[in-house]
Amino acid sequence: MVLTEAERVRGDGSGAMFDRIAARYDVLNRLISLGGDRRWRRIAAEALALDGGTRRPPRVLDVASGTGDLAIEIARRHPGAAVQGIDASLGMTEIGRRKVDRAGFGDRITLDAGNALELPFSDHSFDAVTIAFGIRNIPDRDRALREITRVTRPGGRVAILEAGEPSAGLTGALARFHIHVVVPFVGGLLAGAEEYRYLERSIRAFPPVSEFVRTMAAAGLEEVETRSLTFGVCNLFLARPAAASPLGADT
Ligand SMILES: C[S@@+](CC[C@H](N)C(=O)[O-])C[C@H]1O[C@@H](n2cnc3c(N)ncnc32)[C@H](O)[C@@H]1O
Repeated sequence: MVLTEAERVRGDGSGAMFDRIAARYDVLNRLISLGGDRRWRRIAAEALALDGGTRRPPRVLDVASGTGDLAIEIARRHPGAAVQGIDASLGMTEIGRRKVDRAGFGDRITLDAGNALELPFSDHSFDAVTIAFGIRNIPDRDRALREITRVTRPGGRVAILEAGEPSAGLTGALARFHIHVVVPFVGGLLAGAEEYRYLERSIRAFPPVSEFVRTMAAAGLEEVETRSLTFGVCNLFLARPAAASPLGADT
C-alpha cells in the first residue's frame, strides 16, 4: 500500500520525519538507548508464543517496522515464522529491506510502505502483531490499536514496546536526565535538533502505563500484561484480542 504525499508529510513522528533521519536512525538508536534497544526487541520477540495457531508457517505483522530490527529479531527467534512489516516511511523501509537481505531473511520477511491506521490486511490474518516504538508516533492511537486487534487472530498475541518515563528513585532520576537532557543534545548534534526534541517531548507526553493499558482494553484487547524494562525507560505490553469483542471474535 503506497501512502499519499499528504499522509506521508503529516506532522511530528510521521513517515516524513523518519524519512529525514532514516540514514542515521540505527546508529542513534544504539547510542541513545546505550545499546538497550536491541535487548528490548529481543525480549519482545521472545514473548511471542507462536505455537497455538493452526496456520503454518505462523504469520507475524510488525507495524511501524522502520528499519526492520524487530522483524529480523522475530525471524531469528522463530525460525518457522513469516514476518510482514509495514511503515509510513519509505526511507526507513528501504534501509530495512537491505538489512533483511544482508541478514539472509529475504524469503521470510517482507517490508512494505503502509499506514497503521488502515492496515491493508483482512481480519484475523496474523498469529501475532507487534509494534516497537511506533504507537507513540501515531496520534490516533485508539484507531491504530483497533486495526492491530482486527488483524490478529482470536487467541493470537499482540506485543507493544514503547519508551516511557523512567521510575522514581536515584536510578530513575539518572535515566530521566539521560532521556530529557542527553538524548535531545546528542540527537540534535548527530541528526536534527527538532527531531530529537520531538523524541523527548513525545516520551514525556505518552500516557502512564495504567492509562495506556485502559486504551488497549478499550480497543478490544484483553489479558494485558506489562513488563517494565530498564527502570521503566521502556515498557512491554502483551495482550490478546478480547474473545467477546466484535473485533476479536472468530467470525
Ligand atoms: C521510532 S520508529 C520505530 C521503528 C522500529 N519499529 C524500531 O523498533 O526501530 C517509529 C516508526 O513509526 C513509523 N510511523 C509513524 N506513523 C506511522 C503510521 N501512521 N503508520 C505506519 N508507520 C508509522 C515511522 O515511519 C517510523 O519508522
